[in-house]
Amino acid sequence: MSKIKKCLFPAAGYGTRFLPATKAIPKEMLPVLTKPLLQYGVEEAIEAGLETMAIVTGRGKRSIEDHFDVSYELEHQIKGTAKENYLKEIRSVISSCTFSYTRQVEMKGLGHAILTGETLIGKEPFGVVLADDLCDSENDGVLKQMTKLYEKYKCCVVAVEEIPAEDSNKYGVIAGDVINDAQYDTEALVRVNDMVEKPEPEDAPSNLAIIGRYILTPDIFDVLRKTKPGKGGEIQITDALLEMAKIGKVIAYKFNGTRFDCGSVDGFVEATNYFYEKSTK
Ligand code: UTP
Repeated sequence: MSKIKKCLFPAAGYGTRFLPATKAIPKEMLPVLTKPLLQYGVEEAIEAGLETMAIVTGRGKRSIEDHFDVSYELEHQIKGTAKENYLKEIRSVISSCTFSYTRQVEMKGLGHAILTGETLIGKEPFGVVLADDLCDSENDGVLKQMTKLYEKYKCCVVAVEEIPAEDSNKYGVIAGDVINDAQYDTEALVRVNDMVEKPEPEDAPSNLAIIGRYILTPDIFDVLRKTKPGKGGEIQITDALLEMAKIGKVIAYKFNGTRFDCGSVDGFVEATNYFYEKSTK
């Protein structure tokens, strides 16, 4: 299978945990310091060598398209002033990749949002970034770590982290067999054989939760087409991945780095403090 060139950003959710802020502003456009969450995700994908950013949007999300475009009026206004510097990073993002968009008309869950993105992805492996999971790492970004793993194992890869037992009902939780690979830390890689969406602590198969980074192979679309609504009446990517896991096609990877759940107020504040500290060092 070919090299990974595209990254899908499902960004059509309602972001209800951030109401009223998300009434007219997409959750993905909330800024940590001066940068919207989605820009961090796009920068991570660029660092991983990905060239096409495929964004699944929905009603009321037009500001996402405007953000990744030139604002001539603004450019004209600040041309030649010190303020031009503020646009340096976003200009570099815009010139480093291409953007394509499609709309999810009914918000039927993450699995459905990914299936909606098929038209932008086609028949090639691709990355998925949920921008409200903000990741930072010292060396390679999380998506870059995962694309390297894909190059070696040529199957789906999900990023996981250890969570406290009482949080299991917020995540997809995996179980499987450790893969011994001298290139990776012991227990960093697991061949997944079970996955449960938002289990209660007593039903969780492990303490390893999937976070918002995936590498998927295009056969996931056929599986998603057949996936019935699961937990919460939504089409769950976890249910589709379980089908792939049953034939040994999913690896879970304990990534190097830190991740903030910016879909929750606590995680968002933590991320803001973390990036502020980092920027003043
Ligand atoms: P979340 O469940 O975290 O997002 O979905 P949400 O529904 O927007 O937030 P809350 O729970 O109401 O506060 C994870 C990701 O999947 C996308 C979201 O935009 C988010 O990036 N998503 C979810 C879609 O694109 N479409 C959907 O139908 C559901």
